[in-house]
Amino acid sequence: MNTKPDFSKNANHAATAPAFLSVWDMHAYYGESYIVQGVSFNVHEGEILALLGRNGAGKTSTLRSIARIGDPELRKGEIWLDHKPLHNMSSHEASQAGLGLVPEDRRIIPGLTVEENLKLAQIAPPVGWSIQRLYDLFPRLGERRMQEGVTLSGGEQQMLAIARALARDIKVLLLDEPYEGLAPVIVDEIEKTLRIIKDQGITTVIVEQNAVRALELADRAVILDTGGIVFDGTAAEVLENKELREEYLAI
Ligand SMILES: Nc1ncnc2c1ncn2[C@@H]1O[C@H](COP(=O)(O)OP(=O)(O)O)[C@@H](O)[C@H]1O
Ligand SMILES: [Mg+2]
Repeated sequence: MNTKPDFSKNANHAATAPAFLSVWDMHAYYGESYIVQGVSFNVHEGEILALLGRNGAGKTSTLRSIARIGDPELRKGEIWLDHKPLHNMSSHEASQAGLGLVPEDRRIIPGLTVEENLKLAQIAPPVGWSIQRLYDLFPRLGERRMQEGVTLSGGEQQMLAIARALARDIKVLLLDEPYEGLAPVIVDEIEKTLRIIKDQGITTVIVEQNAVRALELADRAVILDTGGIVFDGTAAEVLENKELREEYLAI
């Protein structure tokens, strides 16, 4: 008999609020490897959702599926962003529809300055925040505007990657491990910025191994395990539930 507690019974916890980003029964494959195995969750407008789970649980694959990267290949399911069907779109179209993915490796473009990295993001519509507004949000980027992007510190490169997403007119920011490899004081700085971004009306999904830091920031959390959702509820519930943290987050 399976005696594992079923935390997914909370799955419709916040079902009363309308979904802004809705992922329904999503299945995705790398070649024949079945990785995202029927993932469903909702994100409400203006909230921060933490998408958590152990290494290899499928968090990056879930973000890549939503952003329509193509690898993993989405074979079944629906993804709706503000009433638009992302599941029928290419990654380029999903970006035009307002999806901003900041990948784990940050992808700062070599040979370009900070400012050129930002300007390149605005080369085609829809253009988002002005460069000046981005420098107001991240003063360090303003100070280093003429410096080559790849020569920045890890924390500054993460700021540039987030700023570049906001340089386009986005509705949802998907962050894959934004705190990875960063000193706690830099994490504090980025966390502060993510709160400001939330106050400006952007909806955020944050994937983080540093689950406690992500839960302190997030309104709600979903936990993934071997390609499926095992918990859907408030961030506070996860912080308070020792059993759940030990079982799926090892914290
Ligand atoms: N390009 C790939 N090809 C085949 N399998 C992959 C690929 N990328 C990831 N995987 C596998 O998919 C599973 C989920 O990986 P991933 O989504 O990166 O997990 P997480 O981000 O939660 O650590 C893992 O078992 C991983 O080995
Ligand atoms: Mg990952």
